[in-house]
Formats: sequence, structure tokens, C-alpha cells
Amino acid sequence: MPSTQEVHAALKTVSVPELGKDVVSAAAVRNLVISGGAVSFDLVLMIGGDVPEPRVHAIQGACEAAVKALPDVTSVHVKSSVRPPPGGAGTRKVMPHVKHVVAVASGKGGVGKSTTAANLAVALKSLGARVGLLDADIYGPSVPTMFGTSGRPEAAGEKTIHPKQAHGIALMSIGFLVDPDTPMVWRGPMVHGALTQFMEQVEWGELDYVVVDMPPGTGDAQLTLTQKAPLSGAVIVTTPQQVSLVDARKGLKMFEQVNVPVLGIVENMSYFVCGDCDAEHDIFRRGGGKRTAEELKVPFLGEIPLQAGVAVSGGEGLPVVLAAPDSPAAKAFLDLARTVRARLEDQGAQGGLTSMAWQA
Ligand SMILES: Nc1ncnc2c1ncn2[C@@H]1O[C@H](COP(=O)(O)OP(=O)(O)OP(=O)(O)O)[C@@H](O)[C@H]1O
Ligand SMILES: [Mg+2]
Repeated sequence: MPSTQEVHAALKTVSVPELGKDVVSAAAVRNLVISGGAVSFDLVLMIGGDVPEPRVHAIQGACEAAVKALPDVTSVHVKSSVRPPPGGAGTRKVMPHVKHVVAVASGKGGVGKSTTAANLAVALKSLGARVGLLDADIYGPSVPTMFGTSGRPEAAGEKTIHPKQAHGIALMSIGFLVDPDTPMVWRGPMVHGALTQFMEQVEWGELDYVVVDMPPGTGDAQLTLTQKAPLSGAVIVTTPQQVSLVDARKGLKMFEQVNVPVLGIVENMSYFVCGDCDAEHDIFRRGGGKRTAEELKVPFLGEIPLQAGVAVSGGEGLPVVLAAPDSPAAKAFLDLARTVRARLEDQGAQGGLTSMAWQA
């Protein structure tokens, strides 16, 4: 039978960025009962603002997995609840009325994150959802170009601003606030502050999804963001020619570290559809994304073809899902949106979530 110390030591490995510490140090583990191999406890997460249910589910899952890994443990029963931190004042409210925040990320640059994020946002909208798009790439913002929007957002109060709107999507990007010619060196110190403001001081309003276009790589800026944002899940973009397992794994690890579920891997520029003959040509070694997903044991979310119109319409402010909705790439993005929507719904359903508290 495991000891209390052993269970505590296992749970100490589960750190929750919103709490700023692990679940034991944050006094989130209560009423621990060990009876034979059966371990049960309450998980009381004192986090300000609305915490998305899948997020709580992910934290609970990490706790269960940590305890289950102990020898002699036969079952783990956790009852989770979220409470505001004591005092209440100064409680951080991050995007309180947004159901799901979904990051689009990759280990390497230039694989089509921004293109995927923009088209995923538009595709979710065309499925009837209320959608926002947060451009988290401070050094190379793409959203203003891809949506053909520029100019400063309007103030919504003393300390808040309204997102810009285009094609029915709420948009926020550093590109709306900073002159495109501002030297990069000035932007460095702004990264953290800007991202925090995008989440805390933009009036996103009631939305079903906010898609986050992540900057390339898995460095500190990315980690800060994944810690700050109440992410429901992440989509990892890869391309056939750079299906380095190492890169994909780096991306996965980053999200695992902060208990964000990876919804799956999508392969962009997967194959080329010939405009004249409709034949599909595998220019690169198609299928690498699928193999990578299998090896890393995460779902494969589909293939997006390389299509001339994707880059052209993206550069002209009209994502391909709107510019050429019947084209193969647009259909692939719509399929991706349906899959992402279904996976997020599943996540919620698995927890049997009805309110902020439920039983495992
Ligand atoms: N499926 C596609 N078919 C054709 N062109 C594409 C496709 N996906 C992306 N592109 C083009 O490839 C280029 C890189 O794409 P994008 O900017 O979306 O990548 P990214 O991963 O966001 O890059 P960065 O890491 O620099 O942020 C763009 O010019 C884009 O229009
Ligand atoms: Mg980009």
C-alpha cells in the first residue's frame, strides 16, 4: 500500500502554471484517503477567472496519471473543483467568455501555422461558431495581411480595447498597434507585455473559439504564452519535408509541460493538386505527418494540399476558405475545423462536465 508521502511526492510533479506551483504546494490536494491500493482525494484548484472545463480535466488527468504510476496503486479517484482564490480582489480574468482557446503551433518556422490558424478560424466561423483569432507572433505578425485589415483598434474603456473585425472574425495582432517599420529590437521587451494584454485587456466578448497563431519554435515566449493562456488544446502543424520527429516532439513536450492537451498533428503542403488535371502529386514524401502522429501517439488531424491560391489569397486578405471554398485546400481546412470541433467536444464529454465540479 502506498504511503501518504509517496502519493504527495508523485503529485508534486504536477505543476499548474495558473497556480504558480505544483498541486501539493498549492494545497490543492485535500481529503487524501489510501485504502489498500485505492487512492482518493479532492483536487481544489483556487484559480481566478473562468477555467475552461477541458483544462481542469487535463490537470486532473495529470494527477491521476502521476498517482497511478506508483507501485501498488490499483485505482485513483479524484473529485475536482475550481474556486476563486481567497480575497478575490485582483483576480485575473483571462478571456472569461471564450469557450475554447486553441493554439496552432509548430517546432519549426514557415510550415504554415499562420495560414492554418487563419483558415481554421474562418472555417469554424463558416460552421456557425463565433470565432476570434489572436496573433501571438510579435516579431512576424501575419493576421493583418491575411485578413486585409490595418489601423489601430478602438478603445473599449480606459484600459481595454475592442478587437478588430474582418470576415466576421474578432482579430488582435501587434501589427495593428505597431508600425510595421518599427525595428525588431524595440519589440523584444514588448513581447511578454503585449501577449498578456491581448488576453487580459482585449474585449473578446462571448466567443466559441479563439484560435491563437503561435510564433515559430518552442522557446521561452511560447512557454510564457502557453502558461498564460487558458488553452483548451493545441494543433501542431508540420510539413512532409521537415517531419523531424525531434521538432514535433519538442512541440508536444512544450504543451505537456503545462498540461495542455495536444489535439493532434496536421500535415500542411502535403501534396499538390494539379489545376489542369486534378491529379494529386506527392512532391514531398507525403504521409510523414501521419507516421509522426502514430509514433508520438497523438491523433492525426489530416492533410492540407499545397495549392497556389492559398498563398495568393492569403496575401490579399482573403483566406482560401473564403476565396475558393470549393478548392481542395479549403475543403481540407473545413475538415480540419470539423475534427478540431469534435475533439474539443469529446474532451468536454469525457469529463462528463456539467459545471465546474465533477467526479472522475
Ligand atoms: N497549403 C499551402 N499551399 C500553398 N502555400 C502555402 C500553404 N500553406 C502555407 N503556404 C504559404 O507558405 C508561406 C508560409 O506560411 P505561413 O506564413 O502560414 O507559415 P508560418 O508557419 O506561420 O511561418 P512563421 O513560422 O514564419 O510564422 C506563406 O507564404 C503561405 O502563403
Ligand atoms: Mg506565422
